Amino acid sequence: MKHKFQVFSLLTLALFQLSISVNAQTFFKQHPQINPYQYTIVKEQAFQKAAVTSAHPLASMVGAAIMKDGGNAFDAAIAVQFTLAVVYPGAGNIGGGGFLLSRNKEGVLMGIDYREAAPSKAFRDMYLDEKGNPIEGMSRSGASASGVPGSVAGMFSTLPFAKLPMKTLLQPAYELAANGFVITEREARGLNAERKNFIKNSAQASAFTRKENWKAGDTLYQPELAATILRIQQKGKAGFYEGETAAMIVEEMKNSKGIISLEDLKKYTPQFRKPIEFDYRGHRVISFAPPSSGGIIIAQMMQMIAPYPLTVMGANSFESVSLMVEAQRRAYADRAEHMGDPDFWKVPTKTLTSNAYAQARMKDYQPGVAGNSKLIQAGIAKESEQTTHFSVIDEAGNMVSVTTTLNDTYGNKTIVGGAGFLLNNEMDDFSIKPGVPNMYGALGGEANAIQPGKRMLSSMTPTLVTKNNQPYITIGTPGGTTIPNQVFEGLVNVIDHKMSLKAAIDAPRFHHQHMPDMVSVEADFPEATINALKEKGYTITKRGAFGRMEGVMILPNGNRVAAGDKRGDDSVAGY
Ligand code: DON
Repeated sequence: MKHKFQVFSLLTLALFQLSISVNAQTFFKQHPQINPYQYTIVKEQAFQKAAVTSAHPLASMVGAAIMKDGGNAFDAAIAVQFTLAVVYPGAGNIGGGGFLLSRNKEGVLMGIDYREAAPSKAFRDMYLDEKGNPIEGMSRSGASASGVPGSVAGMFSTLPFAKLPMKTLLQPAYELAANGFVITEREARGLNAERKNFIKNSAQASAFTRKENWKAGDTLYQPELAATILRIQQKGKAGFYEGETAAMIVEEMKNSKGIISLEDLKKYTPQFRKPIEFDYRGHRVISFAPPSSGGIIIAQMMQMIAPYPLTVMGANSFESVSLMVEAQRRAYADRAEHMGDPDFWKVPTKTLTSNAYAQARMKDYQPGVAGNSKLIQAGIAKESEQTTHFSVIDEAGNMVSVTTTLNDTYGNKTIVGGAGFLLNNEMDDFSIKPGVPNMYGALGGEANAIQPGKRMLSSMTPTLVTKNNQPYITIGTPGGTTIPNQVFEGLVNVIDHKMSLKAAIDAPRFHHQHMPDMVSVEADFPEATINALKEKGYTITKRGAFGRMEGVMILPNGNRVAAGDKRGDDSVAGY
């Protein structure tokens, strides 16, 4: 292992020098207000013209600067996606996928699905042994867990809606990778926690592992990632999906039974999806369609609770929480049965999102009485969750909401040898066997079974809200299957409980996903509500914080107020 490190540091130096000579360093020179070696977290601020909220201060500042330089919200989103891939490697990515939801200044909605796809050699029972039992870790760890990455292609599909050239939008990420940036305490902890897995799962040493432990304030240099970004700058999409980078990905596959081929990479294509839309108390809510389950689930839940006086019931009171939990139970019950990649499975979206269906589903709801999922408890939802969301609203009123992921924290913990980026373990979001829960305790069946080229069902829920047909909120969060519930609760907090965006984001959260039949709550959830729920027969589990919600909202005076979650290093920027 020692040898791996020595080779890496020599290589680091060589590549570092090479990349500097090829690509003039311009972005941070031209934006001295952004200092990669010293920055602070800003949790909430109102801006007059444009705002960004993301999981990392540097990414938010880059997004704001790009807009100030003449870019729009789409430019900012592209720059933020790539910057997060450098400064927030646990979830920001080029080796994963995501969903971009937007409403442009003319009111046109768009959903870009750049979710990973199952490789062409994938098959239904690929994660089962001869006896039909799941092979421990195979869908979660190492190259065998990877779907074909979609993020880079997704950004190229976004480019026609942006104003600046891709080269410019990639430049901040390039410079941060080549010249390094100072890591936060949280990042240091994350990298240290995964050190062993990075070494075990990767064919070569990488920038993420060194002899000593990481600590806050250390500078992380990623010369190999810089070289990959440079190839994308020079060759466009082909700089990732073909040539040297593609060859490195395929080479890395050999180390841990991965099956992604050169052909799979070359043919990866994002899909445009018609967003899900519904009304809630005078607001129009817009969210992501399948292969996300999120938009359908929040449409169901919000329509289920609409007949009830949430404002009177109060935030996180027994009355409102028990009502919302029963809506959650019913909506999530449909997830496993009906939802999957719409190109492979007929999802009854129209029925599921109709108000009539929502009301019919609540016919047997009795206020104050605990429902029963009547099913055996499955796996427990995980606590450490890494996906990431960012929200942008620009001066013209274009709104962009993006959730992107490697699935688990640092994905499958495999760094593509020589290319310096982490690969996803998104294949675990498929139902690897009916009745076997994935890492979020989600079950599935035929709708979400593995097939070559198919996209795995997601819970990511990038969401937008308009009021009187004017842009209002862009919001989203990570958190696996808890995502739709978090967005649901965040919106109810703003719309019904009249909370500020920041208060709505920080309020303690709860989660029920039908199976297992229990309500998980965060540690600071009100005890009185917990006790009242327990008295009525609900099973309550306290768990660590879930999600890192990022939102931007337009105030009546036109200001864009941006709010980052208290739960992470989330930070806002704008002008
Ligand atoms: O697409 C999904 O639903 C999951 N892969 C998202 C994972 C996630 O949110 C993990 N982290 N917070």
